[in-house]
Amino acid sequence: MSDPTLLQQITDYSNRHDPYPLYARLREKPVHHDETGPYVVGGYHAVRALLHDPRISSERRNRTAPAELPGQEGGDESGTLPPNFLRLDPPEHDRLRAITNRPFGPPHSPRRIDGMRGELQTIVSGLTDALDGDEIDLVERFSYPFPVTVICRLLGVPREDESRFHGWADVLVASLDPQPGQDVTERDRVAQQARIELGLYLNGLVEERRKSPGTDMLSQLASGDAPEGRMSNMEVLSTAALLLIAGHETTVNLITNGMLTLLRHPEVLERLRADARLAAPLVEELLRYEPPVQMLPGRTPITDIEVAGTTIPKGASLWLMVASGNRDPERFADPDRFDPDRVDNQHLGLGSGIHSCFGAPLARLEAQLALAELARRLERPRLVEDPPPYRTNAVLRGPRQLRIAIDGVRP
Ligand code: HEM
Repeated sequence: MSDPTLLQQITDYSNRHDPYPLYARLREKPVHHDETGPYVVGGYHAVRALLHDPRISSERRNRTAPAELPGQEGGDESGTLPPNFLRLDPPEHDRLRAITNRPFGPPHSPRRIDGMRGELQTIVSGLTDALDGDEIDLVERFSYPFPVTVICRLLGVPREDESRFHGWADVLVASLDPQPGQDVTERDRVAQQARIELGLYLNGLVEERRKSPGTDMLSQLASGDAPEGRMSNMEVLSTAALLLIAGHETTVNLITNGMLTLLRHPEVLERLRADARLAAPLVEELLRYEPPVQMLPGRTPITDIEVAGTTIPKGASLWLMVASGNRDPERFADPDRFDPDRVDNQHLGLGSGIHSCFGAPLARLEAQLALAELARRLERPRLVEDPPPYRTNAVLRGPRQLRIAIDGVRP
């Protein structure tokens, strides 16, 4: 089978429920490439090395090869906002990430995320209380509303505006997930409209917070003076939009993939129900075994580079297949086994190197609390459909719906 056919199969929707055998074939060669397609790397050590390689750029303008995936050109900026730091190289990346980190994590804000634990638990308990009926769609009723509420609280969006914020997030997340037969022009128009409305809304909020700052992240981004300098209004907006987008569907998919995997491994579900301390190693293993971000398709070498005898030319499109690296037998023993007791679990599920997930402590905490709560409170949960229907997106992979039959919800 020739290489492009393999890549086409990987992105083909019919394989979305189980791309892992295809990744195994991908790893048979260190670099896959055909005349026109991207260069694709799937081995753990090579992917990790490239994520740490300063010759690999995340900036669109360095790529001369065309984009292969729908939406790859656009993302959240699409001409309305300056590029966010996910899509910038140093030194701009480092400056913006450092300023964003001051109100978020150590050393300046070591308690921001742990300080949200009680609030997150309240949100999770509230969503679980509302799971009535004998069959639920976990995505709609739980996984989906949770992360956007959390981002609102983190940024400091007033409670009364949360539902508007949810509406914009819905549209933007849907625009990442092209549906076959969909009117693309109309979808882009609706997404652009949501982007503008969200931008205007955030702009108003930033102005308010500059005048009278609170303790929320947006206030601190808008009014703070870091040694790295201050963000412009546009930079604050693009960073806020990044936090919303990067932390939304990823977290939805981690929770949903998590529950799906637990229902396929009832003995692990039972262990988690009996002891919530299993949640931490379990979430790490999930990030390895079913990572919500399957691949990083937006990389470009800024100079010709050599990987295991293949030259990847400057300006080429380079795809780093993190989900494949996570199943590489050269790095993980028995990689296709879901094993929450695995030690030395340095997966690539949250990336690696300078762009490694900024929101990682929050993502981990959200998933741990969510899965522990569901395990403890759902009575006799059973999958109604296995595999469940997936979203079309091959990059941010996860079920569109997860129907679970339950006997009730424990108090
Ligand atoms: C389970 C949930 C999540 C997963 C699987 C995930 C995964 C990732 C991955 C793989 C990257 C690396 C991207 C790259 O190298 O190009 C990344 C970057 C990023 N993530 Fe997450 N993420 C999650 C949740 C979050 C949350 C909750 C937030 C926000 C609070 C967030 C904010 C970011 C940001 C801002 C970046 C860009 C970092 C940079 O460029 O320096 N993520 N994430």
